[in-house]
Order: sequence, then C-alpha cells, then structure tokens
Amino acid sequence: MNNRFPEGFLWGAAASGPQLEGAGSKYGKGKTVWDYWFKTEPEKFYQQIGPETTSNFYEQYKEDIESMKEIGFNSFRTSISWARLLPDGKTINPEAVSFYRDVFSRLRNNGVKPITNLYHFDMPYRLHLKGGWENRDTVEEFAHYAKVAFETFGDLVDTWVTFNEPIVPVEMGYLNDKHLPAVYDMGRATQAAYFTLLAHVKAVRAFRESEQTGGIGIILNLTPSYPKSDQEEDREAAKWADIFFNRSFLDPVVLGKYPEEITEFLERESISVLYTEEEIALIKENTVDFLGVNYYQPRRVQRGDKKAGVGLDKYFQSYQWLEARINPHRGWEIYEKGLYDIALNIRDNYRNIPWYVAENGIGVEGEEAFLDEFGEVQDDYRITFMEDHLRWLLKGIGEGSNCYGYHVWTFLDNWSWLNEYKNRYGLLRLDLETQARRKKKSAYWFKQVAETNQLPQ
Ligand code: NOJ
Repeated sequence: MNNRFPEGFLWGAAASGPQLEGAGSKYGKGKTVWDYWFKTEPEKFYQQIGPETTSNFYEQYKEDIESMKEIGFNSFRTSISWARLLPDGKTINPEAVSFYRDVFSRLRNNGVKPITNLYHFDMPYRLHLKGGWENRDTVEEFAHYAKVAFETFGDLVDTWVTFNEPIVPVEMGYLNDKHLPAVYDMGRATQAAYFTLLAHVKAVRAFRESEQTGGIGIILNLTPSYPKSDQEEDREAAKWADIFFNRSFLDPVVLGKYPEEITEFLERESISVLYTEEEIALIKENTVDFLGVNYYQPRRVQRGDKKAGVGLDKYFQSYQWLEARINPHRGWEIYEKGLYDIALNIRDNYRNIPWYVAENGIGVEGEEAFLDEFGEVQDDYRITFMEDHLRWLLKGIGEGSNCYGYHVWTFLDNWSWLNEYKNRYGLLRLDLETQARRKKKSAYWFKQVAETNQLPQ
C-alpha cells in the first residue's frame, strides 16, 4: 500500500477570523451578528462565553505562527473579518490592514502558505439589520468587500476562498435556530441561498477582473448521503438530501448550473426566488478554480413522509445508522470511507477539479480528562481519526482523484458559535484562563506526517 502523498501536498489547518482572532470590539472592528446575539441572548451560548476574546490570535499571532512552522504546516486557512476590514462597508480600517498584512507576511516568511477566506458565518450586524443574505444589496456590498480584499492583500495572498460552508447559515438560520435569523422558512432559506451563491459568483468575477494571479475557490461541507435500504423510496430520499445539502452549491460552483430537480422543487412548493437571467449567465461563466471540502460525517437517510411531513421531511428524513461508530464525545458518526466516496464523486461527476480537504477533525468534550501528568493532552483518538481518514484519502488519490492537500480542523482549540469551547478540536490545547497554548500529542504526529509527506507504515 502506498503511504506517500503527491509532491507538494498541502499540510496545515483551518480556522476562521470570528473563532480565532478575538479582539471582538477592539482595533476598529465593527459588530457582527454574533456580537449582537451574545449581547441580547447570552443564555443561548454554552457557558455564556461570547465571541469577544475567543483564542486571542489577534494579540498572540506571532507565537502561533511560530508554532505552525514547528508542527510542519506548509499552509494555513483563516478568514478575514468583513466587519473588521470595512466596519461601515466603505471606509477601510487601517488597523485591520496592518494586522492582516503582518499575519500573511509572517506566514509566508515561515513557509506557511496563506489560504484566505472572505466569509465564515460572520455577517456584519449593520447588514443583518437590512435582511442579510435575503437582501440583494448585501450581494453588492460583498462584491465590493472582495475587491478591496484582493487589492489590499493580493501581493501576499494568491489563494482565495469566497465562502466557508455557505449552506450552513442557510440551514442553521432559516431551517433551524442555531444561527440568526433563527426561523423556519423554506422560501426565505432559498432566497438567502441564492443571494449567497450570487455573492460568491460576483466575488469570483471581481477576482478575474483584477490583476491577481493565483486562484479562487469555495469551501463546501459535503456530506455523502447514504440510503437506508436499496428500495426506491430510500434511494430517492438520499438523492434529495444530496441535492439540498450538497448539490445546491456544488453543481453551480463547479459545473455552472443548478440541478434541474431544484427548479422542479421550487415549482412544486410554490417558492419564488428573485433572480435574473443575467445572473444565471454569470453563474455559468464563473466557476471555481478549486474546491475545498469539509468532511466530518455522512448523512444517513430514509424515505420522507410525503403526506404528514413538513418542509424537507416530505423529501427525506435523517436517522442514526445502528452500525455506525459514534464519536463518544460529540455524538457524530465516524465514517472514514466517506472521504473516499467524496474523492471519487469529484473525480467522476465534477470534472475531477483540483480539490483539497479543507476541514476534517474530531471534537471532544471533556478533553481535560486526557491530560497526562505533564500537562499534555494524550489525544490518541485524534491521531487515529486523522490517520484513518488519510488512508481512505490516499486510496482515492491513487485512483485518480485530484486532491492536493489536507487541513485539519483545527490548529488551536477555538470558540464555536453556540457551542463555544465545549468540543475541543485543536492540535494545540488552549487554557481559557491564561490563553496559554500547549501542543497535544497529535501535534507531534501531524508534524511527522507533514514533514515526511507520508503516513507511518
Ligand atoms: C465547520 C465550520 O467551518 C467551523 O466553523 C466549525 O467550528 C467546525 N465545522 C466544527 O464544527
């Protein structure tokens, strides 16, 4: 069995501005929906920890970048905060410019390629007040922000990402109550999804019209959908789950077109979406250069309830697979082969576009139980998790899938939306009281894999 990864393989981690930086109301940053939500409903947030401090990267980034180098990273993805760079949407915040420029320069000087994302669930509060992704003006504002980012940092960054997991704010904010606006409304969800896609496309176009070299892509959380049985109705249900949660973004960004079933669905449900033919042409013309894929767990699906079901329940229902191996600390299914299935799906159905694993990792509640007498987390479960996924990934690469990197979520334990620090994901442990960082056992394992570009025999 081949243990080696292709030459030049990217090794590193992913993070995001709102989860890592801290300095939530310092250095000229504007407010995001998360700042607002925490202020108005702090009880929703686990242990009432807000987005203000998070992992304090803003003030400790120099030591963090040193650690990235030490543990063998040759790349790192985080996001720029829109509200920090353009607090009022127009005026560029000079403190944000010097901060991000120094971060990108230091990453480069340490041999760590910056991959820079523009949006990670962090809607500026002033735009949220006007309807966020339901308002076409947000699309134009985003295109402007993207242009400013390319012009301001383009000499230091050549790999850009428009959105991380664009379906998540749609699903969690319009079909659930985990993001704002926290409503259940399929029509509003569809409009928000469409304008998010349009914002992505306009940013891609702005990139292509700029003087920039390099590439631009998007990061999608692909969750392979497996039917409960081979029966027609279960297979049909799995198809619909795939359409809503994977293909609704994957098809347009890579192939330039929406799945036909979406149009069919909108008609059947009498949902109308504001769009123009001109925009549809833009979507067609501005497909991405590469794809980032976040993979944590698959979706197990059974037939929908066509009569009594509400909303998506009519089309499919998720269920817990009895044979699943479950992460005992978070309750998520562990299914490494899912990554291989994704690899082959991209190879066969998505023009074998260059792609990388943009997030994969395991969240653990109560990780302090694994601290040894010297204060190091003995996270063997994390090593096993990464290794097993990487073996399946290698198999996919061996069979021709064009994957060029692997980023773990995440570098340092970080704040996670409504869950805060409940589930620890980092290669480095964060002490919440002192903000001290400490490498876990998995960081040393990662270093060895990254530096040798191969898995242990
Ligand atoms: C995906 C998201 O991109 C990130 O923000 C989140 O914290 C991780 N998954 C872990 O749930």
